[in-house]
Amino acid sequence: MRRLGIITSGGDAPGTNACIRAVARRCFAAGVTPVGVFDSWDGLLKGAVRDLTRADVAGIVQRAGTILRSARSRLFLQPGDAEVARQALARHDIDALCVIGGNGSQQAAARLHEAGFPVVGVAKTIDNDLAGSELTIGFLTAVEIATAALDNLRATAESHSRVMVLEVMGRDVGWIAVESGIAGGADLVLVPEFPFTLDEICTRLKTRHDAHGRTYSIVVVAEGAMDNARVLDSANAPKDHLGRVRLGGVGTILAREIEMRLGWESRCTTLGYLQRCAAPAAADRILATHLGDRAFDLLQRGQTGLLAGLKGTEVHPVPLADVAGKTKRVTPEYYRLAELFG
Ligand code: F6P
Repeated sequence: MRRLGIITSGGDAPGTNACIRAVARRCFAAGVTPVGVFDSWDGLLKGAVRDLTRADVAGIVQRAGTILRSARSRLFLQPGDAEVARQALARHDIDALCVIGGNGSQQAAARLHEAGFPVVGVAKTIDNDLAGSELTIGFLTAVEIATAALDNLRATAESHSRVMVLEVMGRDVGWIAVESGIAGGADLVLVPEFPFTLDEICTRLKTRHDAHGRTYSIVVVAEGAMDNARVLDSANAPKDHLGRVRLGGVGTILAREIEMRLGWESRCTTLGYLQRCAAPAAADRILATHLGDRAFDLLQRGQTGLLAGLKGTEVHPVPLADVAGKTKRVTPEYYRLAELFG
């Protein structure tokens, strides 16, 4: 390996820069040139590619976002796209690639590998929904932020005897909701994996208030819960350039319905991108460094077509083919914990 490309793809996630830094520093130490691919796959096709210097990756371990910038791309949606990417990489004399990203990105990485290009993926998404890694870069920071929000909202909930709803990210899975719900002691945790009705929610809240004499409640809801797309009327809902419904709004609907049905004052706070743009927690910087370091090792040994993920406390490579297209959902056992101790 002479020239290793590094690309970040999908939503930004705290800790991504720490991973870029780890990969690039291993390159410098091994006499390999780290090549930054900017603006994700579209940038690759447009030639937004240049060699990275030591200065590029200095002082970035604590920085949010990605110095390589990121995007959600249409590339790899069509057969033949992997070959187009392969040729673009060849034009820049890149002979191996490290793909730092979540589900969509690792699907793309798997296609590129199938097309004969040496690739290793690194697990990165705040949603933590990537199969093949128990934790993904950015998730723990997002959970910290959501937990801090729940802690703060409790003061207003208690002072005003209100139901406070916190809407967090999680398009297909409820990992952020469940973990922050446990850490922040939320009274109700609502996630896409375990459907619920408004009647059930109101009954649960009423029981809590009537039987336990509580005067306020804290609810955390993942943006994709309650079949968000349907609730928001998918025909009219705004969509992104990939045709995916832009989520957000389920918490507002929930607070309104709870107030109407129970007659209790309810408010919603949507955390949105504040979960993604913060400085990475130490745990994410450490995870990102471990995963980046191991990704480089794999690439250097020619062990490609793999994802550097976490299993227990160890970095564990898994075939990209086993990861691509799979979603790691909240398990019933885990959800039970949130129900019991939230
Ligand atoms: O990174 C994943 C995610 O955080 C999802 O939970 C959310 O639906 C999505 O990103 C929104 O990102 P964007 O608006 O940048 O496409």
